[in-house]
Amino acid sequence: MTTSVEFITVATADEIQPGERLVAEIGRRWVAIFNVDGQYYAIEDRCTHDDGPLAEGELYGCEIECPRHGARFDIRTGKVTAPPALVDVPTYAVRVVGNEIQVARR
Ligand code: FES
Repeated sequence: MTTSVEFITVATADEIQPGERLVAEIGRRWVAIFNVDGQYYAIEDRCTHDDGPLAEGELYGCEIECPRHGARFDIRTGKVTAPPALVDVPTYAVRVVGNEIQVARR
């Protein structure tokens, strides 16, 4: 049996320029979508340490720093790269269809 993944349009390409990010509600979760040099990445917008809003943090290359206590995550993989968070953050598949940026519903 195969399961198909549903993708949701969250923005048009011009709405997330390189270096920018956007937060969208997908299902019941807030997801942060980043544009790093034309590549799009999406992670849950909730730090696994204490629910900090990751999209409000500073981005260093592909690492986002939580604005609350400074944990860092790789937005490509969701992996923790600096404490105090210990648990990786969920990632979402992103695709571009025409001019639309679409994120997979988990
Ligand atoms: S809530 Fe993100 S580091 Fe504490």
